[in-house]
Parts: sequence; C-alpha cells; structure tokens
Amino acid sequence: HFADYQTTQLHPNSETTMETETQTTEQMTNSDLSEQIKAVTKESHVRAENTELMLSFQRGKVTMPQHKLFLCSLYEVYKVLEEEMDRNSQHPSVAPIYFPAELARLGTLEKDLEYFYGQDWREKVVVPAATRRYCHRLRQIGKENPEFLVAHAYTRYLGDLSGGQVLGRIAQKSMGLKSSEGLSFFAFPGVSSPNRFKQLYRSRMNSVELTEEERSGVLEEAVRAFELNIQVFDDLQKLLLSVHEDERQTSSTHSTPAKMLQL
Ligand code: HEM
Repeated sequence: HFADYQTTQLHPNSETTMETETQTTEQMTNSDLSEQIKAVTKESHVRAENTELMLSFQRGKVTMPQHKLFLCSLYEVYKVLEEEMDRNSQHPSVAPIYFPAELARLGTLEKDLEYFYGQDWREKVVVPAATRRYCHRLRQIGKENPEFLVAHAYTRYLGDLSGGQVLGRIAQKSMGLKSSEGLSFFAFPGVSSPNRFKQLYRSRMNSVELTEEERSGVLEEAVRAFELNIQVFDDLQKLLLSVHEDERQTSSTHSTPAKMLQL
C-alpha cells in the first residue's frame, strides 16, 4: 500500500491509479473533445497513412536509411514536444494529459539512434526543413498557446500507441533485425493496455476546460499537427530520393551523398 501511495504522489497521472475515472465509450458524446478531434482529423489521418513512408511500413518494406532518417526527425520533434510539455506541465490544459512516465519518447529515441548511428549519433542527426518547421510551431505554441499542446500530444502519442507495436514488428522484420534492439521507440513498457490507456487519455482530454474559441483553436491545431507530420514524411522521402540519385550519378553536384548523411 505504501508503494501504491508513493506512486500516486510521484506520478499523479499514473495509469493504474486513474482507471476508475476512465469514461466508457457510451458515456462520451459528440461534444467531447476526443470525438471532435478524431472527426476533424479523419481525412488527414487517411492522407498520413498514404504517404510513401507510411506505405513502406504497411508493406513491410521499410529500409534502414528510411528508418534512420525517420528516427532523426522523430527525435527532433519529441525533444521540443516533451520540453514544452514539461515546461507547461502545470498549465490547466496540459496537466490532465501530462503522462511522462507512460508516454515520454525522447529517451527511447536517444537509445535507438545510438544503436543505429553509434555513440557519436548526436553529430549525425539529419533533418529536412519540414521537421524544423514542425519544431518551430511546437516551440511557438508552447510559449504563446500552451492550450494547443493537447492537439500535438494527441496526434503523436495516440498515434504511437495505436500503431506502435505493429509498426515495431514490421520495422524489425523489414530491416532483418534479430531482436527488438534499436526499436525501443515503438514499445511502451509503462502502458499495460494501450486500448485502456487510450480511453483514459480521451477522458482526460475531455476534462480540459476550454472556451469555444480555444476549442476551435485546438481542433484547427490538430489538423495542422497532422499536416506537419505529412510534410515531414514527404520531405524525408525527397531526401532519400536525392541520395539514391546521387548514387546513380556520382558526378552530381547538388544532391546529398549517402555517406554525408551516414545512411
Ligand atoms: C489511430 C492506423 C499512421 C495518428 C489509429 C488506429 C489505427 C491506425 C488502426 C486506431 C483507430 C481506432 O482506434 O479507431 C494507422 C496506420 C498508419 C497510421 C496503418 C500508417 C502506417 C498515423 C500517423 C499519425 C496517426 C502518421 C499521426 C501523425 C493517429 C491517432 C490515432 C490513430 C492520433 C488515435 C485516433 C483516436 O482514437 O482519436 N491509427 N495510423 N496515425 N492514429 Fe494512426
């Protein structure tokens, strides 16, 4: 009991202590943020699923260079997202959906990058312009509109929780990795049931008090968050294409050599 008490004190948002407050699907209504956000991003989700990068995952054909570049961009994005979530963790719109113990991805990405690039991975991280734009937006809303962070946290964390395990297995098979080493990003050891956790997360989103104006701002921001992700995926593919072209025409002067990108 003492251990339970301690956990509650240290992690007020712990999955196990909060199960009782989870809404059931029947209790949710159309005016719930979780329902509205899912509805407004539905079309964007389809577009995200159909980007070349996500199709490679779904076909079980993700290559090592693709995956390494993907991890680099995720690292930059989560670095800013989690920094802004931490900084704003007491903000009334952030506190209910702040689950660092269960969801934080930065540490997992650092581990995976070290696995793929080696100890000096920090010097080898390469990101396209779209990733920098995504990070810039995250910083901006962290400073100016922390109530919009819920849109970004939803887009990334609920997406990762929905596809994580499956994508991890696909990545492992596609790249011929023997174990799950290098794939910690896809695993959530602090979440015993992703579905139950998603339900808890939705209830917490629905408990955030927002004015009508703020609510429409959050919904708009969620569509933007998906769009920023899509642009990152498309930019990563372009970067890879330029590498392949360079390999074909070694005399090319304007493309990016694979060696320079450590792919
Ligand atoms: C949920 C598939 C990519 C964000 C889901 C669900 C599936 C899925 C099956 C569960 C739907 C449900 O519970 O009703 C996929 C596939 C993808 C993909 C196959 C590509 C390989 C993405 C990307 C993002 C994303 C790139 C965001 C950048 C989300 C979010 C949810 C979700 C936020 C939670 C929806 C909600 O319950 O409100 N996805 N997804 N997904 N996905 Fe994806």
